[in-house]
Amino acid sequence: MSVLVIIPAAGSGSRFGASIPKQFQPIGGKPLVQYVVERFLMSDKVDRVVVAVADALLSIVKQTPQDRVQFVAGGDTRQQSVIKALAAADSEYDVVAVHDAVRPFFKMTTFDLLIDEARKHGAAFPALPLTDTIHATRDGRLSATIDRSNLVAAQTPQCFRFDVLRDSLTRAERENFSATDEAGLAAHFGYDVRVVVGDPFNIKITRAEDLALAEAHFEEWSRE
Ligand code: CTP
Ligand code: MG
Repeated sequence: MSVLVIIPAAGSGSRFGASIPKQFQPIGGKPLVQYVVERFLMSDKVDRVVVAVADALLSIVKQTPQDRVQFVAGGDTRQQSVIKALAAADSEYDVVAVHDAVRPFFKMTTFDLLIDEARKHGAAFPALPLTDTIHATRDGRLSATIDRSNLVAAQTPQCFRFDVLRDSLTRAERENFSATDEAGLAAHFGYDVRVVVGDPFNIKITRAEDLALAEAHFEEWSRE
């Protein structure tokens, strides 16, 4: 069984708001994206990691063909970055995982489970039920309360059989359809997308204060 990991890391981090994009901010003394790549390389299931970075950065990363890690130029949207990374993959793999560069605390046991579910059913992603009450608003006023019992917050790594991800991305391009994650894309095109229980610590660094939370968690995490 072969596994390819795609890491979209070409965003500008507008909500984070620093001059250095958030994926290059340090966690435990190294850039988030490097930390995440190294964690994936610890898994003996992972054959190759393709990282999509901003065009300007590509010229300064050294790469040799035999490395397990490969860098490619990303696109204007996350989806475009994933499309470019998949196109650059050297061959077909059994399973492809797509993981945000800014989620340092994914669990290896969850990743293993996601790979198995994706092989069996076509696609799987980690998610958590919502805990806050969810309201819709209009013009600054509460307009409706949403039943949250069937709602989940999606995380990554999201895993797919190679053909499922490739077909979903190809059709999305052709039909000019976009989604904020690949699980949503695959479901849109009729694939069976399974939910696996995620982890509360698998946070996405989105705003500056998330990095402080992540640093605080890092010490405990690295002792596990
Ligand atoms: N991403 C990417 N290419 C883009 C946009 C986003 O590879 N054109 C990546 C980001 O680098 C990040 C992941 O997708 O690793 C998740 O996206 P998000 O958290 O939204 O990051 P940004 O788009 O950089 O942040 P923001 O939306 O606040 O601008
Ligand atoms: Mg974004």
